Amino acid sequence: MWRRRVLNEVLTFVGCRNIKTQFVWALSAVRACSGPALPVHRITALQAVHSWSQHFQEEGVSEPDLSSRYITAHVLGAKTELVEIVLSDLREKTESLSAVEVGCGSGAISLSLLKSLPQLKAVALDQSADAVSLTKENALSLGLEDRLQLYHLDIFKDAETVLKCCGGVPALVSNPPYLYTEDMSSLQPEVQRFEDAAALDGGADGLTAIRQVLSLASQILLNHGRLYLEVDPRHPPLIRRWVESHLETLHYVQTKHDFNNRPRFCILQKEETN
Ligand SMILES: C[S@@+](CC[C@H](N)C(=O)[O-])C[C@H]1O[C@@H](n2cnc3c(N)ncnc32)[C@H](O)[C@@H]1O
Repeated sequence: MWRRRVLNEVLTFVGCRNIKTQFVWALSAVRACSGPALPVHRITALQAVHSWSQHFQEEGVSEPDLSSRYITAHVLGAKTELVEIVLSDLREKTESLSAVEVGCGSGAISLSLLKSLPQLKAVALDQSADAVSLTKENALSLGLEDRLQLYHLDIFKDAETVLKCCGGVPALVSNPPYLYTEDMSSLQPEVQRFEDAAALDGGADGLTAIRQVLSLASQILLNHGRLYLEVDPRHPPLIRRWVESHLETLHYVQTKHDFNNRPRFCILQKEETN
């Protein structure tokens, strides 16, 4: 249910740049503890940030703007940054478009992209059967199933099949498991209780799945195609170095920051020389 609500919020944010009643509802839970008076109709994310920031300031909460941005990003599932980054590149392309998502979870990213770009076709995969069926259910309820191919695949065990199913795309996007194993025990109890560890634990350095996605991307992407990754703020320089020493055809392009100005997104591009 939570995943589905976040999905709606993200889709609404990306599609209309407005936030529907679900988001207002989420904030009104906090309003019960005396929050700012929010309009009952749709509001934008920035309006929500502004209202809460003002309220926190009046109540003497430290770092009011940062706190407000953090809460808003959390309620939105922090997915809109990543989606917007991919969209801004894909919108510039005129040819027929396709994209692959590795680790689709509830489908929030792929479905947001499909909803925003009617000419896009997507392939999404996940090692969790539950995630694949949830993405399917969400795609059906949004009427996006015709443009989405879904696979129940593990990027390690089924690497060959992944290459066959996903080859030759201009964009690959992934929010893979990237937490450092040592940080798993300090997650909030509600995250520990409800989230599958396989969805979050990226191994000792948080890079186990990321390295595999990078290797696959160097084979799946078309020349000049791009990989978009959501990562831990400590990862961008590590990823840049690993790619430079292991993958000839993949080049680090840029690091992008999230709502809270943390370096959370990496853009890489395939460049074949001949
Ligand atoms: C952090 S969650 C992201 C989910 C979704 N993309 C989102 O942004 O909400 C990581 C996802 O990667 C999937 N995953 C983890 N290891 C995988 C693997 N080896 N092969 C394929 N998917 C994997 C998990 O099942 C989970 O759904």
